[in-house]
Amino acid sequence: MEKSPKPIRCKAAVCRASGEPLLIEEIEVAPPGAFEVRIKIICTSLCHSDITFWRRPVFSIYLPRIFGHEAFGIIESLGEGVKGLEVGDTVVPTFLTNCGECKVCESENLGNFCTTVPFSVMPGMPRDRTLRFTDADGRPVNNFLGVSSFSEYTVVDVSQVTKVDGGIPPEKACLLSCGVSTGVGAVRKVAAVEAGSSVVIFGLGAVGFAVAEGARFHGASKIIGVDINPEKFEIGKKIGLTHFVNPKDTGEKSTVEIIKEITDGGADYCFECIGLAPLMSDAFNSSRVGSGKTIILGVEIHGNPITIDSAEILCGKCIIGSMFGGIKGKIDIPVLAKQYLNKELHLDEFITHQVNFKDINKAFDLLLQGKSLRCMIWMDQ
Ligand code: APR
Ligand code: ZN
Ligand code: ZN
Repeated sequence: MEKSPKPIRCKAAVCRASGEPLLIEEIEVAPPGAFEVRIKIICTSLCHSDITFWRRPVFSIYLPRIFGHEAFGIIESLGEGVKGLEVGDTVVPTFLTNCGECKVCESENLGNFCTTVPFSVMPGMPRDRTLRFTDADGRPVNNFLGVSSFSEYTVVDVSQVTKVDGGIPPEKACLLSCGVSTGVGAVRKVAAVEAGSSVVIFGLGAVGFAVAEGARFHGASKIIGVDINPEKFEIGKKIGLTHFVNPKDTGEKSTVEIIKEITDGGADYCFECIGLAPLMSDAFNSSRVGSGKTIILGVEIHGNPITIDSAEILCGKCIIGSMFGGIKGKIDIPVLAKQYLNKELHLDEFITHQVNFKDINKAFDLLLQGKSLRCMIWMDQ
């Protein structure tokens, strides 16, 4: 084990202006602090939450910033007090903390917001909000969700690191870092979808398709995808969608009416995987009167509130949110990895594109144009 790690100079894709292409710059990555590890990133992928924080001018106060929170890498060095992780371990970072020891982390039913190392969208390391990146002029560069994987090296708190078995290919492990785990986790841990039930998914990005994969895994009989991009249906069929509704193509009827027809009055489970308040209301209105469950997974793109009828809640419908699909990284990601290796969980369809790190901006174009689910971004090795 390296005793006193030194700063590392390496390349990172830095965001200097909201919505503008990232710039590949040389930066310095400080050694890991107490309860932190420094990770050499092998591959990383772009999630829509990166896009949300990258393009909204309201977040420009946190620039320059290094985005990225889905990745797979190898531990390069350890800070003070790190237990249970070694240099050379293959790991997946996660944006949500999981100390493994607090009341929430130990509980089955208190959700997944660790109390020892609280989650925050503010830049800085989670325990003291200090930074580990500096640019070529010696100025600090903000991190993102404590991960910042659009860099050849990054420093991550131990509560945000899950060791994964060497048997899983890097790009499949990377998928489990956020989006795919969010969708499958929400089906399993938040909704607890049963065999034979009907599931509607608003938004067929990687998160939505991961809900579809989770629904297939758990035996849902109707899996209905809603998206304005008809190209999503072809890939949807491979993943197990049984129906597809394009809100732009519903004629006289509304999306909600069509879903109610397909599901004999309303779906058992509706998932919003876009991040638009009106679609969250549509999801709620498409669910079965008296028992339907709506799960919000999208981060509202414009910060808008949602409108729902309280009488419907009174009659038994429920609406619930879930960050990271209720997943606790250290417990649940190894289970998902094992299910992939056992060929029970299908991940192959999620990687639609691959680019080298220097072409990272292509990954943004592909996601923004609705062409990709996940574009795997490979670091030069
Ligand atoms: N109606 C129906 N579908 C829509 C609409 C709309 N008005 N607007 C967008 N969509 C579809 C897009 O066509 C796309 O297929 O929603 C899908 C969103 O997918 P991605 O952009 O790939 O997003 P993803 O990475 O899956 O994340 C989805 O979950 O984690 C959060 O922040 C993330 O809010 C985002 C959501
Ligand atoms: Zn905890
Ligand atoms: Zn994400």
